[in-house]
Amino acid sequence: MKRASMTACLGTALLLAGCQPTVETTVTAAAADGPRVVAASDIEAGRYLVLLGGCNDCHTPQYAMTNGAQPPEAEWLKGSTEGHTGPWGTTYGKNLRMTVGRMSEDQWVELLATGSSLPPMPWPSVRAMSDADKRAVYRYIASLPGEVGQQAPAALPPRRDATATGSARRLIL
Ligand code: HEC
Repeated sequence: MKRASMTACLGTALLLAGCQPTVETTVTAAAADGPRVVAASDIEAGRYLVLLGGCNDCHTPQYAMTNGAQPPEAEWLKGSTEGHTGPWGTTYGKNLRMTVGRMSEDQWVELLATGSSLPPMPWPSVRAMSDADKRAVYRYIASLPGEVGQQAPAALPPRRDATATGSARRLIL
């Protein structure tokens, strides 16, 4: 069956275009109307998704280091000063309350569907959420009490090793 359909695809140039797999489109469309969490409210669904998605591990200080015991929920997702260092430099989980505050729900859905940034932000995971789940996360974050807080520190470039820095200095002098 598989071979027959491949042969059919290769049979004529006219048909070829129709046989090209459109993986990107298919995945995006599937994600948009994909499965959704059902809960008593969208806010409850969003809270569950945030817990499952591990968003607090990187976007809430102390959370990962205290096994989720700290800080209280009123402080969740205000951005973290705990850096993630790797070949990409050092990045900080951004303040998601500020992100939600500066965009509409539709813009948030678009951001989660198309976003990219430095690691270790798990964009493939948030991309895989259905639109309904992306909206639930937005509504949950918007419902969180307390101050919006400060933006997390800006990402730092990869660290040059001491020798490279030393020789660069010598060159300048
Ligand atoms: C393993 C760590 C990690 C996890 C888990 C994580 N993030 Fe992130 N996220 C980051 C980092 C780091 C950045 C900033 C990357 C940069 O500076 O380029 C970021 C950036 C973002 C941004 C962009 C914000 C902006 O204003 O530009 C959004 C939105 C986001 N994360 C949402 C989420 C959501 C929703 C979850 C949970 C489903 C999540 N993240 C889980 C690390 C993480």
